[in-house]
Amino acid sequence: MSLYRNAVWFVKGLQEYTKAGYEYASKHFVPGDLDVNVTGRCFMVTGANSGIGKATATELAKRGGTVHLVCRSKDRAEEAKKEIIKSTNNENIHVHILDMSNPRKVLEFAEKFKKKYKLHVLVNNAGSMINQRELTDDGLEKNFAINTLGTYILTTTLIPVLKSAEDARVVTVSSGGMLVQKLNVDDLQFEKGQFDGTMAYAQNKRQQVILTEHWAKMHPEIHFSVMHPGWADTPAVMSSMPDFYERMKTKLRTEAQGADTVVWLAISPATIKEKSGCFFQDRRPVSTHLPLALTRSSSADEQKLLKILDELAESFRSKST
Ligand SMILES: NC(=O)c1ccc[n+]([C@@H]2O[C@H](COP(=O)([O-])OP(=O)(O)OC[C@H]3O[C@@H](n4cnc5c(N)ncnc54)[C@H](OP(=O)(O)O)[C@@H]3O)[C@@H](O)[C@H]2O)c1
Repeated sequence: MSLYRNAVWFVKGLQEYTKAGYEYASKHFVPGDLDVNVTGRCFMVTGANSGIGKATATELAKRGGTVHLVCRSKDRAEEAKKEIIKSTNNENIHVHILDMSNPRKVLEFAEKFKKKYKLHVLVNNAGSMINQRELTDDGLEKNFAINTLGTYILTTTLIPVLKSAEDARVVTVSSGGMLVQKLNVDDLQFEKGQFDGTMAYAQNKRQQVILTEHWAKMHPEIHFSVMHPGWADTPAVMSSMPDFYERMKTKLRTEAQGADTVVWLAISPATIKEKSGCFFQDRRPVSTHLPLALTRSSSADEQKLLKILDELAESFRSKST
């Protein structure tokens, strides 16, 4: 099955996820969808110092938004802030330092943030593909800690502040790679079998899609979306997938092309006409499953994922007082 899924997915990727795929899809974009002035609206972008996150933050700043850059390296964050201010003339750019792999820090950050700032749109962009099985100081597998648990804790802790904002949105940058994985709640830390970083990443990205669907049902006041940016030429692709990068580098999207649908989901009035909780690619909701791939999960498994994440979050909440 995994051979079938991977082959179908790769062929789909060659047609849709490349720069040529973006150029083809963009012929159907509605001109003016991004002609929005977002002065007075507040955005948080995680992993905003690089790649798709930085391109997104730049576009938001260009349109007048107040942008909170959430990054793990102070130097890289300050550098990005300088560049964004220089290219947009928008001074309302704030840096916050946070390692998304540390659940206690994510909780503390989100609790402090919501006491001090407004937030209209959260963009969960930070993500990683770590190819060896590494554990955090808390004993969590690192891909899971960053991509799934970090995203879960940040989003759920910020929900009250989002609920008090007008036209609140949460955009999560997942990956089309998730199409090759079915939710596996029995091995969230990848302890069984041989570790495969690409598949761990794809499993986390599947979890983000499922979380988004559930959040959309639980919080109708907020518009949730999750998306695939396509294959974009970013430092993560070069360092985590060097063979793929070498083969594909002439076909990859630019960072701005990768960020296009993130920005559209974050600011366009057209977005909120779409149902909350969907998975988007090139400004359109698309299926979360490949044909005949048997990747649909049971409601029991999805509830189990939510329960485990909630219990993990609670365990860190009690440690962070
Ligand atoms: N590029 C693609 O083709 C592609 C395809 C599908 C999905 N995506 C998704 O797009 C998102 C952005 O990735 P990208 O391709 O733009 O790569 P990137 O340029 O390397 O950006 C990743 C960002 O995430 C940050 N990050 C990683 N681990 C973190 C942690 N523990 N705490 C806080 N921040 C952390 C990175 O910070 P540092 O700079 O400090 O490492 C960086 O700012 C990711 O979620 C990725 O999975 C990308």
